[in-house]
Amino acid sequence: MDDKLRTLVEYAILAPSGHNSQPWKFRIGKKKIEIFPDFSRARRVVDPNNRELYISMGAAVRNMVVAGNDLGLELTYKIVDKKIEVVVVSETQSNNKLKGIKAIKERQTNRGKYFSKAIEEKKWKQIEDIAGKERTDIKYILNITEKRKLANLAYEADLVWYKNKELMLEMEEWLRDDVEMAKDGLPTGVLNFYKVAAEIKYLFAGDSQRAKEVATKDKDMLGKSPAMAIITSKGETIQDWVEAGELYEELALELTKLGLSNSIFNRPVELTGFRKKIAEKMKIKGKAQLLVRIGYARKPAKRTGRRPIDEVLIK
Ligand SMILES: Cc1cc2nc3c(=O)[nH]c(=O)nc-3n(C[C@H](O)[C@H](O)[C@H](O)COP(=O)(O)O)c2cc1C
Repeated sequence: MDDKLRTLVEYAILAPSGHNSQPWKFRIGKKKIEIFPDFSRARRVVDPNNRELYISMGAAVRNMVVAGNDLGLELTYKIVDKKIEVVVVSETQSNNKLKGIKAIKERQTNRGKYFSKAIEEKKWKQIEDIAGKERTDIKYILNITEKRKLANLAYEADLVWYKNKELMLEMEEWLRDDVEMAKDGLPTGVLNFYKVAAEIKYLFAGDSQRAKEVATKDKDMLGKSPAMAIITSKGETIQDWVEAGELYEELALELTKLGLSNSIFNRPVELTGFRKKIAEKMKIKGKAQLLVRIGYARKPAKRTGRRPIDEVLIK
């Protein structure tokens, strides 16, 4: 059992996290794993309430549940204070196909260009089957006018972001030059979306033309993507955020299985003033948590690093 629980942690840490901050620690107990938020890795400027931190933890929980399912462990979890307690409910035979684990290993964020080709109807039906649970919901967007609206919001948010010194400096802290060596953060060489930060001083210098060019590129990429999704939650509690993270990872793993790519573009959600705008313009009832672009990527993305398991395990 201990070996299996350690394996679950190995898959949990492959989850996506904001700026690849990996804001988690794990403790393996008797038939349970505790996941603690690692506030030393919190991003205080962009995520002052730890909303994205808990979304990232939710994605890690989802990986555990999916890997557990393959390995014959049925899991449940609850939030106790600020941590998540994942408990083994029952044990059965492992499933030899290990399809969930395969998707966990293959999943990645792809910020590159996508083909504008539509997603096949049969595949789209499978994607649409992924729906919210009690506290979460997904709005899927295929309509061109709706996509443009969201792309315009992203454009506006980009311009605010690029001119905000605190946000940009915090992002710069998570940029890593050496793709091979980095075990966290964002490798600048491969993440086109983030390359702008390398030009950080340029943008600060008030070259608003440059900021506009970069924002326009983002807008075009979004507007031309075949599909988008907005993940929402009922409220703004730790439970809401964890469930939103779980739902995103469920979607990301399904997309991976179908040969589709996705990337999150959360700048509008991260700016307080924009969240109301998103709700109004996109006609969503809940609280927007994640904006996702979906499609067939033109090129595979390079991998981001992870801290080794011994760095995140509390002994
Ligand atoms: C809550 C959350 C917010 C994120 N926001 C963004 C974003 O705004 N822009 C972006 O390009 N990637 C975003 N990401 C993706 C992460 O940067 C990515 O998951 C991380 O670098 C690890 O890379 P991987 O997903 O390829 O494993 C976000 C991820 C999470 C979980």
